Amino acid sequence: MQDERASQLAAVEAEIRALSESPLYDYRVTNHYHPVIGEGNPNAEIMFIGEAPGEVEAKTGRPFVGPAGRMLDSLLKGIGLERSDVYITNVVKDRPPDNRDPRVKEVRLYAPFLWRQIEIVQPRVVVPLGRHALDFVRKHFEGMTEEGSITTLHGVAVPVEAPYGRVFIVPLFHPAVVFYREDLKETIENDFRLLGELINNRQPAEK
Ligand code: URA
Repeated sequence: MQDERASQLAAVEAEIRALSESPLYDYRVTNHYHPVIGEGNPNAEIMFIGEAPGEVEAKTGRPFVGPAGRMLDSLLKGIGLERSDVYITNVVKDRPPDNRDPRVKEVRLYAPFLWRQIEIVQPRVVVPLGRHALDFVRKHFEGMTEEGSITTLHGVAVPVEAPYGRVFIVPLFHPAVVFYREDLKETIENDFRLLGELINNRQPAEK
């Protein structure tokens, strides 16, 4: 099954590479950037969804390998996980110029690819990191609450239905938040601990 999932993910990757209709395609090519599709275990129980690649990610073609990635790695380590245990991807697969927010048109274009990645990997826990990923899960998972923002929903496990079964959505602050809100570091570490408990006990975490 692992090989089948890996080859399905490779097919998604090939399509995104060739996505010349993307408003971000010319920027990618001009700057010799790569699309950043996602990486990790095709059988992961847990999938992290960020916003969009930054410069280091676009240069390497790998998600979360810049400063925010180092923070994510350390938070994962804190709950006994390596990157290779999980699957990490983004809502938007190409770097927006100057790290601006992704535009609605861009999110719409890449959304079906992210949804395919979810259906292939079939994670039992989906972790939207920040508001763009939270918006995505709201639009795509039946039963995901319409209420609240990352500020109110972080660290809460919301049970929802996916076409392949029951999933817990656990919204978390984007790891980059600690670069301008140091006071949130402890909150983020606590949220990760809840995530660790959820995975180990397979029970929804209580806030
Ligand atoms: N921030 C994101 O949202 N995704 C990345 O891949 C890197 C930084």
